[in-house]
Amino acid sequence: MQFTVAIDGPAAAGKGTIGRALAARFGFAHLDTGLLYRAVGAKGGDPVLAAQSLNADDLARGDLRSMAAGEAASRVAAIAQVRAALVDYQRGFARRMGGAVLDGRDIGTVICPQAEVKLYVTASADVRAHRRWMELGGDASQILAEVIARDARDMGRSDAPLRAADDAITLDTSALTIETATARAVAAVEAKLPRRLG
Ligand code: C5P
Repeated sequence: MQFTVAIDGPAAAGKGTIGRALAARFGFAHLDTGLLYRAVGAKGGDPVLAAQSLNADDLARGDLRSMAAGEAASRVAAIAQVRAALVDYQRGFARRMGGAVLDGRDIGTVICPQAEVKLYVTASADVRAHRRWMELGGDASQILAEVIARDARDMGRSDAPLRAADDAITLDTSALTIETATARAVAAVEAKLPRRLG
């Protein structure tokens, strides 16, 4: 069975948590596509060559989760040839047998417009910055400024800007517990899963 769940939204909205929960619940494979862009940014050198030659070792680096790596990712992600180099891998993953969940910024709009379920997971900038601060520590006001700057870059770029697909279900996690948000995502998937026989 091919079945794709596309999850898009800004940084620290809860995409990864919801994506992992859906993958565990339904036995789907999960791809955090932000990691691809983080690995390209962290590799250094020409970002287009880095994207074209990305390998498993690049994705296994220990420093990809930092704010700095996210910032570098967002810069290289605005380059059209970088994005183009990563399309085939993501589309192949999305249509693998057994089902797949991909989270990112352009999954429902560009990578997999035919996804069976599209979710747009968002939250206010204040809530997202607070989550990042709880996770990573540091200067809270600087983190908020970085979250706002990253949103502006991801939503304002000309190639594959972050936006909700027209047919996406929006989950605003500012005021939802992660359990409630996940339960809504599970219900959205269950509503679209092919009915089992017998
Ligand atoms: O989700 P994460 O914070 O790891 O993503 C890092 C950056 O990679 C984002 O800010 C965005 O610029 C870029 N990205 C993207 N398209 C995706 C996933 C991530 O442009 N599908």
